[in-house]
Amino acid sequence: MKKGKKLYEGKAKIIYATNDKNLVIQYFKDDATAFNNQKKTTIEGKGVLNNRISEHILSNLSQIGIKNHLIKRLNMREQVIKLVEIIPIEFIVRNVATGSITQRLGIEDGTILKEPLIEYCLKNDKLGDPLISEEHILTFDWATKKEIDKVKKLILRINDFMIGMFRGVGIKLIDFKLEFGRIKIDGKNEIILADEISPDTCRLWDSITDKKLDKDRFRKDLGDLIPAYTEVAKRLGILHEQSNVSAVNVTKLSSIKRRKK
Ligand code: TMP
Repeated sequence: MKKGKKLYEGKAKIIYATNDKNLVIQYFKDDATAFNNQKKTTIEGKGVLNNRISEHILSNLSQIGIKNHLIKRLNMREQVIKLVEIIPIEFIVRNVATGSITQRLGIEDGTILKEPLIEYCLKNDKLGDPLISEEHILTFDWATKKEIDKVKKLILRINDFMIGMFRGVGIKLIDFKLEFGRIKIDGKNEIILADEISPDTCRLWDSITDKKLDKDRFRKDLGDLIPAYTEVAKRLGILHEQSNVSAVNVTKLSSIKRRKK
């Protein structure tokens, strides 16, 4: 597979063309941003961990019949994915109230929700990804009713699966963000899961201590983001001693780079 020109650069990933018009390469950067790009830095090794963790979750989802864009991981930072037309909506799924919803609605942090709550945000950096309703989506044709109904069903299956997967390794899935894309498969229009699922896009708390193992370590200046992401990868059984992305290597790499600065 030949890597072609850059097609798109987002805050944490870059998309490159390939010699196959239906496939693109997704490159995971080390850049971390929060609060719509107001806070940003580079965290050595984050992209490597997100690439591995997202590959693991998406391939597990595909094994339970949730179609997604992942073809295969290419190397430490890249994966081959199917080219889709991204639906311009961030689908937020919440099991426990924390983050923006606690401030927006005055809900107490840590409140367990009686049902998973789905929220929609318009993917528009200039507007700060505003919260929207299903009616907005239909009025402005961002997606059809059929697409939204399909996505909602997929989201609930993904949430159930991921809650169980994380619970099995001592982690609570508090909330997360999903993106979906349109694609033609065998001449049929389909909606598949796209983007990434990683500690950048989920809130993950240790089941016993509630320690944050996700991007809130950066958002809230808690430090030790790489050890936290490494912990998630290790618990999921992704990192092995012989792997180049072992906890020690990633931590060593970042501390060496830090000392050099
Ligand atoms: P929030 O509490 O800031 O609205 O975030 C809810 C979840 O969605 C949390 O797991 C982080 C994730 N998220 C993203 O992945 N990207 C985003 O741009 C935002 C705002 C949230």
